[in-house]
Amino acid sequence: MTSKPLSIHDLAAMKRQGEKIACLTAYDASFSALIDNAGIDAMLVGDSLGMVFQGRTSTLAVSLDDMIYHTRCVTAVRRRAFVIADMPFLTYPDPLGAAVNAAKLIQAGAQMVKLEGARFEVVRFLVDQGIPVCGHLGLQPQSINRLGGYKVQGIEPADADKIIADAQKLQEAGAGLLVLECVPAKLADEISSQLVIPVIGIGAGVDCDGQVLVLYDMLDIGVGKRPRFSKNFMQPPVAIAQALGNYLIAVKERRFPTVDHSF
Ligand code: KIV
Repeated sequence: MTSKPLSIHDLAAMKRQGEKIACLTAYDASFSALIDNAGIDAMLVGDSLGMVFQGRTSTLAVSLDDMIYHTRCVTAVRRRAFVIADMPFLTYPDPLGAAVNAAKLIQAGAQMVKLEGARFEVVRFLVDQGIPVCGHLGLQPQSINRLGGYKVQGIEPADADKIIADAQKLQEAGAGLLVLECVPAKLADEISSQLVIPVIGIGAGVDCDGQVLVLYDMLDIGVGKRPRFSKNFMQPPVAIAQALGNYLIAVKERRFPTVDHSF
């Protein structure tokens, strides 16, 4: 295994070559090392840490300082996996404010920041400053109070069309990666085929260019209920390292997600 971290260009090459990208969330050094050793391609320091690490009911209370701290923990021991860090709620209200905050995550060791929604101007400005950006469409947990719950998005044709248009505009604005959360598998397939940049799905079917899961859900150690689109990789009972390896292989061989984990 190489000791040089993968770059966004390596992930883009994987898409071109038809190799699925396996990603998991990570929040601390010990799991970061286990995930890295398992050969998982990318780690997301997700603001889902607000729920699985801090025990909150949403991601909204996560602060930039929390994200900087967890990004430092994860990148301290990472050798190969590409690391993305979430920009938490209200830390990207305008391009300049976003750049100042994103810079702190990059300085903590992240190679890319992720932000939710159709924030084309912010994305373009960050990319112009040399900060790689991952978009996040479909279910956007930071908008949970506006959405009224954790629901599948893009079911109505007009909503699906908007997600497709936003995905294209994010790519045009310079996003290097896109996360699609909780959308019908057919819609995610269409977007993944249309975009040049890799599309990483969570609850978005098997035809995305890669998959991401919340680590604590797939290891079945979360405090909340595991979402339908996730899977307990600790069953049948295995060691954590084995569960991570099984996830990697299942993603690479398109055996996860199945229709049972898709919408
Ligand atoms: O915060 C997170 O873990 C995420 C994933 C659900 C994609 O954004």
